[in-house]
Amino acid sequence: MFGKKKIKSTDIKVLPRHVAIIMDGNGRWATRRAMPRTAGHKVGSENFVKTVDACDRLGIECLTVYAFSTENWQRDAEEVEGILKIMHAYIIKYVPELMKKNIRLRILGDLSYFDEKSRAALIESQHKLENNTGLTLCIALSYGGRNEIKQAVEALIKEGVTEIDEQAISDRLYTAHLPDPDLVIRTGGEKRISNFLLWQSAYAEYYFSDTLWPDFDESKLLEAIEEFGRRKRRFGK
Ligand code: FPP
Repeated sequence: MFGKKKIKSTDIKVLPRHVAIIMDGNGRWATRRAMPRTAGHKVGSENFVKTVDACDRLGIECLTVYAFSTENWQRDAEEVEGILKIMHAYIIKYVPELMKKNIRLRILGDLSYFDEKSRAALIESQHKLENNTGLTLCIALSYGGRNEIKQAVEALIKEGVTEIDEQAISDRLYTAHLPDPDLVIRTGGEKRISNFLLWQSAYAEYYFSDTLWPDFDESKLLEAIEEFGRRKRRFGK
């Protein structure tokens, strides 16, 4: 029997500038193994590190991952605490490696939900890496697309701007000055966007994979990017 041909990075002809990923399926991955859900988030975090590395080697300009939504705060308190603890430890521990790789970090989201200490640590990590010039890694944390647009409109009102064009809104989003995502990947089998980069993804190509996030390895990422290269983008024209 012949399996599907494995795609290598050298097969990639068209590279998206900005890849965004909804990393779904950690909980199911753990449950299927009779493990606690937080064990899935831990393996998911390890896969996040591998994915950043793969995107960096490929030469992708910007990678955004959906780590925690504003809606995720409504989950069981123990799970929320577990996710945040794991994520926080990964981000802080990962800073020296990001520095070595010349990776810039941006946290997208409403950090007012976090306690003072966590918020300060996240802001400090961003600062340390802000002059880097390689891959821009954006972590959407306590993020909600509608809330982001609402806050942009509030900022415009506060600034007294009366002539509002699309750029004025883009400039006040968490993603200000970043290219819009070209490719949005969702793992874990669901086919919805769950309030992720609503404004920015107006012309993105979507790619849905049944693979649960902890199993979405580099070859699966390359399959998604290769499929992106075969899409015909018309931007509504
Ligand atoms: C979705 O799986 C995943 C989350 C809500 C958390 C995602 C976080 C990570 C993968 C860690 C990322 C780490 C860093 C450091 C950014 P789910 O719990 O909704 O899974 P399910 O759909 O199977 O229940």
